[in-house]
Amino acid sequence: MSDASNTTLLLGQTIQFTGHPFQMPVDQAVVHEPRGGVLLRDGVIAAVGDADTLRALHPLSPCIDYGKGVIMAGFVDAHVHYPQTAIIASWGKRLIDWLNSYTFPEEMRFGSKTYATEIAERYLDLTKAHGTTTVVSFGTVHPVSVDAFFEAAQARGQRVIAGKTCMDRNAPDDLQDTPQTAYDDSKRLIENWHGVDRISYAITPRFSPTSSPEQLHTLGALWKEHPECLMQTHLSEQTDEIEWVQSLYPEARDYLDTYEMFGLLGARGIYGHAIHLTPRERAKLKDFGAGLVHCPTSNTFIGSGLFDMAGLMAEGQRVGLATDTGGGSSFSMLRTMAAAYEIGQLRHTPMHAAQLLWLATVGSAQTLHMEDRIGNLAPGMEADLIVLDLSSTDAIAQRSARAEDIWEAIFPTIMMGDDRAVRAVWINGKAV
Ligand code: GUN
Ligand code: ZN
Repeated sequence: MSDASNTTLLLGQTIQFTGHPFQMPVDQAVVHEPRGGVLLRDGVIAAVGDADTLRALHPLSPCIDYGKGVIMAGFVDAHVHYPQTAIIASWGKRLIDWLNSYTFPEEMRFGSKTYATEIAERYLDLTKAHGTTTVVSFGTVHPVSVDAFFEAAQARGQRVIAGKTCMDRNAPDDLQDTPQTAYDDSKRLIENWHGVDRISYAITPRFSPTSSPEQLHTLGALWKEHPECLMQTHLSEQTDEIEWVQSLYPEARDYLDTYEMFGLLGARGIYGHAIHLTPRERAKLKDFGAGLVHCPTSNTFIGSGLFDMAGLMAEGQRVGLATDTGGGSSFSMLRTMAAAYEIGQLRHTPMHAAQLLWLATVGSAQTLHMEDRIGNLAPGMEADLIVLDLSSTDAIAQRSARAEDIWEAIFPTIMMGDDRAVRAVWINGKAV
């Protein structure tokens, strides 16, 4: 029998993924326990099973009974810009105008560590309230923006990934680094932070238009020196952006080639948006096992296009889900799943609720190569959990009351839910 002092038993409905719901029938990919339990020990999931059995095996463990609440892995948001928190939902421009009008002026403020810390803490509080327990964030060009973010995450015991955004052209002077300072600052941040507590570093060229070939070259060299790091960037978000990339890199075969030429294509690469891909790009991304991140609220908000989830999944691509705060219009992964569903509908390829939940947890974790640690309920995994209330508003409650199975019960929360649906959040084994 376990020592009760360092364990906690959570009871409720549990949802656990045991397979890939895009590659097998959904009911074979998920275990739903209507009366389940999760035993936490020292920040790790020690057991998942049925409530009565776990209760009998661990009678002395403190126990929290969430009743009909759904206990599942916390959401993993695979592409965000925490520095854009304060300018989320800025009205009506195409990508490049939006960057110049709202994003770059705001990002200039992050040279101040005090401001960066204020926004990092605000961002992590907001996302926690929405049930997101891991994020992959861009910083700004300023290394202190990354220090501030990692310090705030570290104080919360939170697993995060981030990097200093590198850009040495096509941005305001105050937001530009150089190939050498991008390399030096990124390297120093890797040495200071990568692998400290639950923090990982991602080498972060913003996107090809804001990096010179020299800068992409130095960042490719840095990634080669630090293959343990992830690399994050943007890829093929808008058609006019793609034309711009082609004019800036006339020798490139396509957008992806601007990364590939400089050693910035790899399995540990995470490519945000990836909407307008050519057959060559799709084949290369698949060959390398790269991570593609669907940012549906951003893609509709900025008018970028309809991500081909069904086609990319059928090819066996690695795909995750993200808010893309603040190009995305929400901090909520529930709202993000709803937008992913709607885009699937517009493409005549509807997604099942279990597929949406998988994308927001296991799928995103897979793009980070962290699926053995986060994004699911399984013994040995880190105890980052949420509890969803499937009746969080009157509108949702009256619909879920008619549900005949868990998927029908949970779908109204996916489509209509927000932070009110997140009844509890556990990070690193602690209720927060
Ligand atoms: N492409 C380059 N930078 C950005 C950004 O900050 N947001 C979005 N949505 N796309 C980008
Ligand atoms: Zn982005």
